[in-house]
Amino acid sequence: MTVAILLGSAGTASATTVPGTTAERRAAAPCPQPLPPAAHQAPPTGACGAPSPGAAGLGDSYFRDAGNGGYDVAHYDVTMAYAGARTGTVDATVTVTATATQDLSAFDLDFRGPEVGGVSVDGRSARHRRDGRELVVTPAEPIPAGRVFAVAVRYAGRPKPLRSKAFGTYGWIPSKDGAVVAAEPDGASTWLPVNDHPRDKATYAFHVTVPKGLQAVANGTPGPVRHGGTTATFEWSEGAPMASYLATVAIGKFHMRRTQAGGTRVITAVDPAFGSSAKELESTTVKVLKWAAPLFGPYPFATAGGIVDDPKLNYALETQERPLYGGFAPDDDFVVHELAHQWFGDSVGLTRWQDIWLNEGFATYAEWLWRERTGRDSAGKIFKRYRAQPASSPIFSPPPGAPGAGKLFGYSVYVRGAMCLQALRDRVGDRAFFTILRTWAAEHRHATATTPQFIALAERVSGKRLTELFQTWLYSKTKPRRW
Ligand code: ARG
Ligand code: ZN
Repeated sequence: MTVAILLGSAGTASATTVPGTTAERRAAAPCPQPLPPAAHQAPPTGACGAPSPGAAGLGDSYFRDAGNGGYDVAHYDVTMAYAGARTGTVDATVTVTATATQDLSAFDLDFRGPEVGGVSVDGRSARHRRDGRELVVTPAEPIPAGRVFAVAVRYAGRPKPLRSKAFGTYGWIPSKDGAVVAAEPDGASTWLPVNDHPRDKATYAFHVTVPKGLQAVANGTPGPVRHGGTTATFEWSEGAPMASYLATVAIGKFHMRRTQAGGTRVITAVDPAFGSSAKELESTTVKVLKWAAPLFGPYPFATAGGIVDDPKLNYALETQERPLYGGFAPDDDFVVHELAHQWFGDSVGLTRWQDIWLNEGFATYAEWLWRERTGRDSAGKIFKRYRAQPASSPIFSPPPGAPGAGKLFGYSVYVRGAMCLQALRDRVGDRAFFTILRTWAAEHRHATATTPQFIALAERVSGKRLTELFQTWLYSKTKPRRW
């Protein structure tokens, strides 16, 4: 679901999607020819010859293989039966509905899950092969640019998490009584065949069958539960566009609670090991949602809530509509952080991973605003305390606007990213600053955006030149001194 642009004078008749960046156009180019000079010109089509394979990556400089070229996903339908914690196996069919953005002879999905039993395209069996983290699909017939098509992938076996120094344990993660998904940044392919890049948002439907006695919780709005003899099937649907790393399911036993916050349904699910915190998670979530709406604008989704499950991840993830807290009962700050991400990170998503401070700096700044609320502390004071840290502190480097893939979740992205927003607030004043935050959330609601777009907006709203301030806070290699 990227922004579709109708081509007028460019000479191609059909409605096609213009990929977001030069890198993407380069990655998707189907045959050797000069690149189109401007984003408004024709995207790669079969104009230069025969249908060709979609690119294996979207050209994100931080995750070269993530995402794929040649199509744009609108919807994932995830039908999954989970056998129980003893085997940890699933039997799944995922149907991906997408629009071709070039004449496709073949295309890739990102998939690192268990064994693939079969693939079909529009109901016809398709050839497929695994190539590292890619699943390469060759349909019986080429797919013309502009055509909507449905790929069904059947797979079965035991999905496994990824582990890395930079990201810890992530993706599909077994728990004591089931499993839970926390997939940021590139872990969605551990459990789904997917276009795994935040630029391609889509809607999701989940139909998860579990052994009797277990429950399944996912993003979005719940549907009816169907009880079979030895199983139960839980339905959830995410109707707003969502990045693949934000898709989740949590399977196991949970204390479920339901309430409302200013008209928004709030559904929380807490593993019994943390059962005593279930009520507090709910009340904090409600309190924070009510506090945030006047600051950031209306809550962007149909429902809200949270999930606490047992794997000791030592991090939380802002899984859309229902953040996940991995192995701990969250305090206020954590809840504020994950709920702020619903506006900044989830609704306003990333176009490229380099801009991660737009997620983490903003969510951290929300924590500072929460402290300000009581009058006992202020974002300005917190900024000054951090500013007194030595230049060698990891809060200052690498620069948050270009941290490198290995430091995506490093201190500097969070702390110096938040400090950048305080520097902006000091420069433009409270009125303009909060207008900037709300306008950012409103203008890019349910879409994606970049740092240059944020800088342009801040300059437009404030009427001030801010290039140097952002250059210093986001990109300078050393601790900011003057800006
Ligand atoms: N976005 C999450 C947060 O700040 C952090 C995710 C970290 N991911 C990971 N694989 N460790 O709340
Ligand atoms: Zn965060």
